[in-house]
Amino acid sequence: MKPAEKQNARPALDGRLLLKQLEMLGEVGGDTTGREYGFPAGKRTRLALSDGDKTGRDLLVRWMKELDLKVRIDPIGNIFGVLSGEPSGTEELSGSNLENALMIGSHIDTVIDAGSLDGAYGVLSGLAVARAFRNAGIQPRRPLVVAAFTNEEGVRFQPDMMGSLYFTGGISIDEALDTIGIDGVRLGDELNRIGYSGDADPSLLIPKEYLELHVEQGPVLDSENLDIGVVEHLQGISWKRIEIAGTANHAGTTPVSMRHDAGYAAARVIVFLRELARSAENTRTTVGSFRLQPDLINVIPSKAEFTVDMRDPDNSCLVEGERRLADFLVRLADEEGVTVLTEILARFDPVQFDKELADSIESSARKRGFTYKRMTSGAGHDAQMLARVCKSAMIFVPSKDGISHNPAEFTSEEHLLMGAQVLLDVAFDRLYAAHEIHAT
Ligand code: HGY
Ligand code: MN
Ligand code: MN
Repeated sequence: MKPAEKQNARPALDGRLLLKQLEMLGEVGGDTTGREYGFPAGKRTRLALSDGDKTGRDLLVRWMKELDLKVRIDPIGNIFGVLSGEPSGTEELSGSNLENALMIGSHIDTVIDAGSLDGAYGVLSGLAVARAFRNAGIQPRRPLVVAAFTNEEGVRFQPDMMGSLYFTGGISIDEALDTIGIDGVRLGDELNRIGYSGDADPSLLIPKEYLELHVEQGPVLDSENLDIGVVEHLQGISWKRIEIAGTANHAGTTPVSMRHDAGYAAARVIVFLRELARSAENTRTTVGSFRLQPDLINVIPSKAEFTVDMRDPDNSCLVEGERRLADFLVRLADEEGVTVLTEILARFDPVQFDKELADSIESSARKRGFTYKRMTSGAGHDAQMLARVCKSAMIFVPSKDGISHNPAEFTSEEHLLMGAQVLLDVAFDRLYAAHEIHAT
């Protein structure tokens, strides 16, 4: 591909094909995936490394090859499609060149019964940016890499963002591969089973800068009628698994004074966490997974196993919330005569994204006449991991009624294309135009 003849050639977004591919990928991961692993069936479920995830991966790799991107898979199954920069297409893996790359990524694994946009929108928009360069016959001055990171959701295997955490050196490959899922399956075995255990060396793929386009998954942009979120910060995340052991006993004969009821103790934790969130300014707490044993109508629960998801934009507030919970659990064990075990599943500090990249995003939104605001991300994203190794920032588009992790997740086509256009503008400026201006 030859470089553009004149400076004012700009790649154009093929919005129709982007929307079509979103729809096609959205049809992958039928309701069998959940059931195969003992989960409730979901209409659209691509749990990390499941058959549904594999089908989505195969489709993405096919689309990358149709664009003549060089596809690389690393040892945790992260997928990279490389559009080489000048002067030739032969050095896509040599460290000297990819360290100048712009990477655009996200994830294609989902929660159970998911929406069609969370993650997929960012990956397929990255593909749309590469396609725009291809269609315009413009070779970027630096490589463009489109990435899909493994196990961003952390639903089956914790922690979340595990693929990008490994890619950026936050977890060893052995620890990642030996992770046992909540269905009792080893991550490395599943990776081999679906055929996505690769050999690309992540250190040769670390980019100079990273952009991620994502639906907001929260109510801010939609409630303020704004088009674009310029995401300059992402809140801290604390995930725990808590196990409370009490004493099984007869539901009819045991007086309250003699009960060591693991179910009741766990319920007190849920109420405590809601009160903690109410009393704090920005702390969010969720008990999303909850199981009782023996789970029978006439037996006082002997065991409760549940998860705590706690988040706050300010790390000192998150630490304070964790401290308050720990203190409460000590008191609870004493008052209820139960034992409490706590396991840390994930703990990531808040992240400040790159100011210059955020400025580029804002400048594109402003030039396009889109309404926008600077904001923090409530959700975790691969960008928070990439920020450990390179300049990173995110672009949000509104989620209708702030709904996500729910099949009702919706963003208008107009907003989906606005977000992808801003992504393309920023990518073109950083990969070509700005460089071109410097070069003249
Ligand atoms: O939990 C999160 O924020 C992300 O969806 N994994
Ligand atoms: Mn996501
Ligand atoms: Mn998600």
